[in-house]
Order: sequence, then structure tokens, then C-alpha cells
Amino acid sequence: MTQDLRIGIIGVGAMGADHAERVARRISGARLVAVSDPDTARAEALAAALTGTPGSAGSANAGGTPAGATGSDGVRVIGDPLALIGDAEVDAVIIASPGFAHAEQLMACLEHGKPVLCEKPLTMDAESSLRVVEAEHKVGRPLIQVGFMRRFDPEYARLKQLLDSGELGRTLLLHNVHRNKTVTATFHSEMIVRDSLVHEVDVARWLFDDEIARITVHAPKPTSLVAEGVLDPQLAVFEMVGGAMADVEVFVNFQVGYEVRCEAVAEKGSATIGLGVDVLTKQAGHWGGTMPDDFRVRFGLAYDIEVQRWVNAAARGEIDGPTAWDGYAAAAVCTAGVQSLQEGRPVQVEMVSRSEVFG
Ligand SMILES: NC(=O)c1ccc[n+]([C@@H]2O[C@H](COP(=O)([O-])OP(=O)(O)OC[C@H]3O[C@@H](n4cnc5c(N)ncnc54)[C@H](O)[C@@H]3O)[C@@H](O)[C@H]2O)c1
Repeated sequence: MTQDLRIGIIGVGAMGADHAERVARRISGARLVAVSDPDTARAEALAAALTGTPGSAGSANAGGTPAGATGSDGVRVIGDPLALIGDAEVDAVIIASPGFAHAEQLMACLEHGKPVLCEKPLTMDAESSLRVVEAEHKVGRPLIQVGFMRRFDPEYARLKQLLDSGELGRTLLLHNVHRNKTVTATFHSEMIVRDSLVHEVDVARWLFDDEIARITVHAPKPTSLVAEGVLDPQLAVFEMVGGAMADVEVFVNFQVGYEVRCEAVAEKGSATIGLGVDVLTKQAGHWGGTMPDDFRVRFGLAYDIEVQRWVNAAARGEIDGPTAWDGYAAAAVCTAGVQSLQEGRPVQVEMVSRSEVFG
């Protein structure tokens, strides 16, 4: 008999398949037992590829660094995502379906009392996110962790530690850059706010330990390399309740590669992460390094740490990362951000207070 947390994954596209492979091969104390996706051929191919996957060697680590996984003996394909959530042999769920499907699937996890790691965004708007926060509160224990994995990236974690230490004085400004090589043609202007900018919304709330009071999303001259009407890049400004500010360039069709940077400017210095300074080569008249094609490479270690810590916490009946409240706060900011983008003006963020929900 094994004590492994039996995990089911909903949505096995780019992110879900990556998590499936992670759980099956690298995460200790967990076992991938089921996957669900309306694209059943995709789900079946993945299940077949990961069934019987042996865990890699390694040793456990209290800091959450993934060790050897125990592998997956049999990965079932369950057609209906809600049936996967209710399945008696699934202890915990990873939701990696598109954002529009999250609300219903999260509610089902709460109904069944199952811990869930839900990819961002929590839901598509502030209202539905608040309903999820309230429903979790009724359950009486935290079950939802949101996939804001930048918090688990070693570079971001060191930046947070440095800023919290006070060594640089108070943090005044953040400059963020978030660029993807390309995205699918269906990734429209609002998704750039709700699906991409949402990461920096969480980063700003987390690094400043403060809420965002007001957001402005500017739409500069768009790249000609996307469909007519898609506003890419976008330039957002967050005004924090405490007066600090953050700017974010989001450019999801940058063409070159995946690039995420953050510079914090404080009273007595600044700190920058994400420069991608790996191996510097000098060859054939050029010098430079390489750039990852996508998020799975840049944040691979962050996802590993995120999922390992989530598994460890779920086994204790806890969560260890961004909460449903964090997901709600981010959704509230993005709801205001979409309005700002549409109306071309700064928009005040509307949020209920914690005490209205938690008493
Ligand atoms: N944390 C991150 O860095 C990060 C990166 C990429 C994507 N994501 C998030 O992960 C989620 C999935 O994104 P993706 O890039 O993998 O998208 P994707 O389009 O590659 O995959 C989505 C998968 O979900 C399936 N699906 C569609 N409707 C479904 C439903 N109702 N129930 C279950 N499955 C359904 C699709 O068939 C597809 O296989 C999104 O919420 C996205 O924002 C997070």
C-alpha cells in the first residue's frame, strides 16, 4: 500500500501535459492516476505515454525541491472532468483547462473536499472568483491553491527575500517585462490582460505586500504581426494602495523568445531578475546567450517546486502558496484592467474587504 497522493489532471494541453509529466516523473509523494480532456485522443496518448513511468532517483528535500517520484502505474482517462473530480481514487486535482472552465471545476473540487492546484486565472472575472472564495470559506478549510508560479521561481523568491529584508529601504517601483515568442491566433486583447498580465498583478501584490488600487492599461501601436484588432503589446500601470507603482510591458507576439524580467527600485538600490544570464558564448563573430522558446523552460524549476510544495501541503491538509483570495484579487484587478483597455482611462479596482468574506 502506498501513501502517495493520487492526482487527477483536468486539461492536458501545453500546461496540463507538462504538469502530468512532472507529477509522473519528478514529484515525490504523488502519483498521477487520471487525466481528463475533451480531446480524448490527446488524453489517451498522454496516459499511455505516462503509464508505468518509473520515478527518477533523488532524495527528499524539506525546502520543496522535487525529489524522485514514485511514478504512475496506471493513468486512467476519464471523459467527464467532473467525474474525475468525484472519482474515489483521486485525492487531489490539478486544473489546467482554459480559464472559462475553472469556476465550475473549482466548485466541484470544493463540493468533494478535494485539494486543488488551479492554473491561473482563478476564474475569468472578479464576481465568479469571489463566489469561489466564499464557497471555499463555507467548506471551512483552504483547499485551493492558484498557479502563480513566479512566487516559486528561485530568482523571484530571492528578490522577495531581499526586498523584505529592508536592506534596500522601502520598495518604490517595479518595472516588469513579460514577453512570449508567439501565442495562438485566438489569444485576443482581453486574454492578454486576464491570462498574461495577471501574473504581474500577482507579482506586484506579492512583492509590495499590498493591494492594487487603480490600473491603467495602455494600448500602444500594435505589432503588424497579429490579426487586425489585437492590441499587442500592452503597457499597464498599477497604483498600489500604499502609493508605490508598477509598470508592465506585456508583449505576447515578441517573435524572439520567452522573456520575463522584473526590476525593483527601492530607496537605497535596485534589483533585477530574469536577465537570462546563463552561458555567454563568443563564436563566429557573435557573442551572446540563448533564449527559451516558452514558459515551460524558463519556469520549469518554479513549476516543479510549486507542485512539490502543493503535494506536501495537501498531504498535511493545507495549502502552501497563493490562495483563492489571491486569485480573486488578481481577477478583480484584471476586470478593471479590461475596462481600462476598453475605455482608455485609469479604472479603480473594486474589491470586497477580507472582513466582508471572512468576518
Ligand atoms: N502558470 C503558467 O505559467 C501558465 C502557462 C500557460 C498556461 N497556463 C494556464 O493553464 C491553463 C491551460 O492553458 P494551456 O496553455 O495549457 O492551454 P491549451 O489550449 O494548450 O490546453 C488546454 C486544454 O484543455 C482542454 N479543455 C478545453 N476545455 C476543457 C474543459 N471544459 N475541461 C477540461 N479540459 C478542457 C483542451 O482540449 C486542451 O487540451 C490556462 O488556465 C492557462 O492560463 C498557465
